[in-house]
Amino acid sequence: MSMSEKQLWSGRFAEGPSQMTLSFTSSLSIDAKLAWYDIAGSIAHAKMLSAQGIVPPEEGEGIAEGLKQLLKEVEQGDLDISEDLEDIHTNVESLLTERIGDAGKRLHTARSRNDQVSTDLRMFVRDAILETVALLLDVQSTLMERAEEELETMMPGFTHMQHAQPVSLGFHLMAHVFRLQRDAERFLDAYKRVNQCPLGAGALAGTGHHIDRELTSMALGFDRPTDNAMDTVSDRDFALEFAYACTQTMVHLSGMGEELVLWTSPEFGFAEMSDAFATGSSIMPQKKNPDVAELIRGRSSLAIGNLMQLLTLMKGLPLSYNRDMQEDKGSVFSSYETLTSCLYVIGPMYHALAFDRERMKNACANGFLNATDLADHLVQRGMPFRQAHEVVGAAVRFSVKEGKTLESLSVAELKQFSELLDQGSLDHISLEACLHRRSSPGGTAPEQVTIQIGTARQKAKGHEAECYGEIARLEKVWDDLRQ
Ligand code: ARG
Repeated sequence: MSMSEKQLWSGRFAEGPSQMTLSFTSSLSIDAKLAWYDIAGSIAHAKMLSAQGIVPPEEGEGIAEGLKQLLKEVEQGDLDISEDLEDIHTNVESLLTERIGDAGKRLHTARSRNDQVSTDLRMFVRDAILETVALLLDVQSTLMERAEEELETMMPGFTHMQHAQPVSLGFHLMAHVFRLQRDAERFLDAYKRVNQCPLGAGALAGTGHHIDRELTSMALGFDRPTDNAMDTVSDRDFALEFAYACTQTMVHLSGMGEELVLWTSPEFGFAEMSDAFATGSSIMPQKKNPDVAELIRGRSSLAIGNLMQLLTLMKGLPLSYNRDMQEDKGSVFSSYETLTSCLYVIGPMYHALAFDRERMKNACANGFLNATDLADHLVQRGMPFRQAHEVVGAAVRFSVKEGKTLESLSVAELKQFSELLDQGSLDHISLEACLHRRSSPGGTAPEQVTIQIGTARQKAKGHEAECYGEIARLEKVWDDLRQ
């Protein structure tokens, strides 16, 4: 077989493309990952062609059977992919024709690789979203378990990386949970726009064959066919949305990684990494390094880069399909692999983390975490807040000079700053009291954090039902497709 006969489009050409052009334009090394989806999409298309009488029923049957065989092979990991063929779509069609003969040549009726590739990638992204949401739910559940144990564990809350007000560790961990919950919601929302079927859009303008787009859409578990063929073959919004959702999540995970790097440092000592999630140094025998947390932080760069690549790729492309768009898949796969690799490891790492409650509590002794409470106390005794702020500021300045904390000042010392202050004021600013007092909705008081855990669990239940319901629905779709 000459080079040109291996192409799907050789008719137009007197000579085949150069080897250089072939290897330059090939996407096989990347899109081979889509083999399963490509075959599944082709089965649905073949069933539709034969249901509509566009291919003779016996041939349609033969095509579907041949494809089902290929599906088995790809599942067993032994699909015979040829490096000489430019992409996975060409490989599947050519394998089919090798196996079942000329009937295979009817498969591509009323279809273009333009609607095909979008269908494949949408099916990939759909599964990627469901896996990601399931993993996000696992991480949330680990964090919530840990948060529940730490409702009374006091630690400094930070702004500008400076001590701000006392909070509980449970409250702090729940802040991460709510971020991750928004991420899950974002993925599930993107899912709706991903889950529409491009098949039937053809190259760009639809087809003159009497196709049934509802049939293929349903057979592949999509909500419905897309609306405009030209938009369909040009649209990679779903890939960008997915990449953004991955990036936003990676930015959250990166912050968590950074926090663990800090917390496990000797300066903080808020936590110790389990041996299972730490590594050593090849030269310094004493080292226990938080490499997993550092790599999570580092890998966020890949997600950010991928998102930028996709935005730049799509920016300014004229309608409709342009070959540039072949460069979309690498970033989608990379973002997916990056994010899932981090989600798999971060939950177990938090599960095994040993918090040092004593260290956290001791850290609260410095930094005047109760200064706001002392000012609020003066307000309750009638002083305008701005003046109270000044008074407490002066008390803090005095304490810094004396090497004391606010709560260790004597009543006499306090009174220098305001006559309104007395022993009751000192009781008011014990750190425990400060923590428990913040009982406004969303606050750090233990009963409020318990409410937050309840809210988050409720929401997670909804996401879980949606995610696992969809996974089960798709399993059924694939069972039916194999019939
Ligand atoms: N490999 C191509 C891609 O990933 C498939 C679509 C090719 N379509 C075309 N008109 N050349 O985008």
